[in-house]
Amino acid sequence: MRERRIQKHPILPIPERRKIHFYWNQRKLEANEGEVLASALFANGIHVFGHHVKDGSPLGIFCANGQCAQCAVIANGVPVKSCMTPVEENMIVEPVKGLPRLPKVEGEAQFSDIEEVDTDVLIVGGGPAGLSAALQLGERGIDTLIVDDKDRLGGKLVLQTHKFFGSIDDCYAGTRGIDIAKILGNELQKHPSVNVWLNSTLLYVFSDKKAGIVMNGKKYRIVNPKVVLNAAGAREKSLVFPGNTLPGVYGAGAFQTLVNRDLVKAAGRLFVVGGGNVGIIAAYHALQAGITVVGLIEALPQVGGYQVHANKIKRLGVPIYTRHSILSANGDAHVESVTVSEIDDHFKPIPGTEKTFACDTVLIAVGLNPVNEFFREAKEAGMAVFAAGDAKEIAEASSAMFSGKIAGMEIAGALGKDDAKVPNEWYEKANLLKSHPGPVSEPQDKDMEEKGIRPVIHCHQEIPCNPCVSVCKQGVIQIPGNSLLGKPQIVNHDCMGCNKCLFICPGLAITLVDYREDPENPIVSLPYEIYNYEYKKGDTVLLTDCEGRSLERAVVTDSVMRKASRQTQIVKVRVPKKLAQRVAGFRIQKEADTLPIPAPSPNKLPDDATVCYCERVTAGEIRKLIRNGVKDLNQIKAITRAGMGACGAKTCESLIMQLYKEEGVPLEAVTPNTRRPVFVESPLGVFANISEGTAND
Ligand code: FES
Repeated sequence: MRERRIQKHPILPIPERRKIHFYWNQRKLEANEGEVLASALFANGIHVFGHHVKDGSPLGIFCANGQCAQCAVIANGVPVKSCMTPVEENMIVEPVKGLPRLPKVEGEAQFSDIEEVDTDVLIVGGGPAGLSAALQLGERGIDTLIVDDKDRLGGKLVLQTHKFFGSIDDCYAGTRGIDIAKILGNELQKHPSVNVWLNSTLLYVFSDKKAGIVMNGKKYRIVNPKVVLNAAGAREKSLVFPGNTLPGVYGAGAFQTLVNRDLVKAAGRLFVVGGGNVGIIAAYHALQAGITVVGLIEALPQVGGYQVHANKIKRLGVPIYTRHSILSANGDAHVESVTVSEIDDHFKPIPGTEKTFACDTVLIAVGLNPVNEFFREAKEAGMAVFAAGDAKEIAEASSAMFSGKIAGMEIAGALGKDDAKVPNEWYEKANLLKSHPGPVSEPQDKDMEEKGIRPVIHCHQEIPCNPCVSVCKQGVIQIPGNSLLGKPQIVNHDCMGCNKCLFICPGLAITLVDYREDPENPIVSLPYEIYNYEYKKGDTVLLTDCEGRSLERAVVTDSVMRKASRQTQIVKVRVPKKLAQRVAGFRIQKEADTLPIPAPSPNKLPDDATVCYCERVTAGEIRKLIRNGVKDLNQIKAITRAGMGACGAKTCESLIMQLYKEEGVPLEAVTPNTRRPVFVESPLGVFANISEGTAND
């Protein structure tokens, strides 16, 4: 049986945690104190959290972010989202079988007064955007309250073990997301005007301009803000394919939460759907945690993420299949394999090109939707409301930080602070940071002299990133025009071999070739930061070029791991001169582990795919209604229940719209769902501040 908790990690410390116990289906299990139920269950090998009332299909985790309702369990008699509920000593946890029953009512309900709190600014979300905004407001002494539904600040930053792109001055480029979260959190403590409520969920913004917030799922408070900043981030999109609700199919963010926040080895063999930065990075995080990444598919002819990210995983031995789509996730109670195929120019599968891969987990990384309902409601209530980060526009976390900084300054200005003017350069920088990657070009440093020490740049695409330029005190690396968005180039031969560019490059896309000792067989230094094996002298590695093509085997001559290395190991190999500037990395996965397996074609049809996860409504049911001329989501809801589930259509609405698109119906012609008046599911008793242990629902 594979180890279910991560015991060693190249980047993350493994803290000693106090053990507590809980009961699952009357079985006594161990958990780490403070972790959420979903992670505790995964760590005990339990991925099926219940069975759906409609069709008995197994239920498991999908978002691990409180946005969907797939991971519900019954804890101490009450239905809860297991991804948001901390496990308690001796907690009785049971799977959901059918519809949960209302808990027993004992005695009269006891209510307490609801506290009202005034603040100048209410920031929803303590991630990169919310924290950056709060720093601007805190610097000006503006009374600010951050509410965040997690137990720590940082948002998605706390899941990011890789180094960030961008510039050092604007967004800590070259620093890992987990460290940026600490830096921002520490900075915030210097500003007494900023208060933070953790484990606190904004339930609704009411028409009388009051925000209702529940803390720890129990204590209800009203906040009266002058201004609201929505920095609540984004939720992951799901995808319609047969097998999409099988336990083992879940979002890339959920995977990062399990692996990087809760240190649970959530998978053994992983397959990733989606070649944007999120999917590629999730694959990289899996490798760091010792999980085999069987492959990654992308529907477009090239990945949407940064080329340096994609090349990083290709060099380590992860195959990337472009122009491919998922046909099905296969298995009875859990994912056992995935079937993919090539697609044509109209994104239709090409018969005969199917491939099936053995895997236990399929990650869906096909994009994000902004969590923007707070913004909409606050605006309708006539409040002053701003948005920042992914809640405003989906982009990299580096961009979210900058957008939060701008929003903080704009809000300070709106509150009458005379010194709060957003410089024009900030807007220009914000546009640069959210730039999409440019075209890939041929390397420009091919004719480098083969003597002394030469850095070789394996980064051939314009992306907003320049820390290699900033750390090179010799001025060896430059970007033409000194722009943030450009391709770094070697402009002189004064390299001292300090390795700083290797240590800071987020793409691990710089190597150093040292010709000094033996010009015919120079030493190449390769950056490396995967799993728990630190390479040492005498080890053999299979070298690859920039894009992961195998070159030849080489013996490690030395390895370096210094404090200044930002936890990046430098592995040195001696190679023939002709290869020295081509070598960019080495494989860690065996090709045999990533090959397809013989398997019959899947017998499920596209119409069998689930669209409404909560109510288990299929694509076939919805398509039929669309073809019959139904253009109103409320009508679809009334007929099929699609959109009526616990998540409030957060998961299925965009999928239904996608079906309309596929059926050729213009989206402007479709009437959206009528909104329900609470953003997040909550027991009704909460709104009356009912005391614990009394009638709650
Ligand atoms: S997926 Fe939750 S209501 Fe449809």
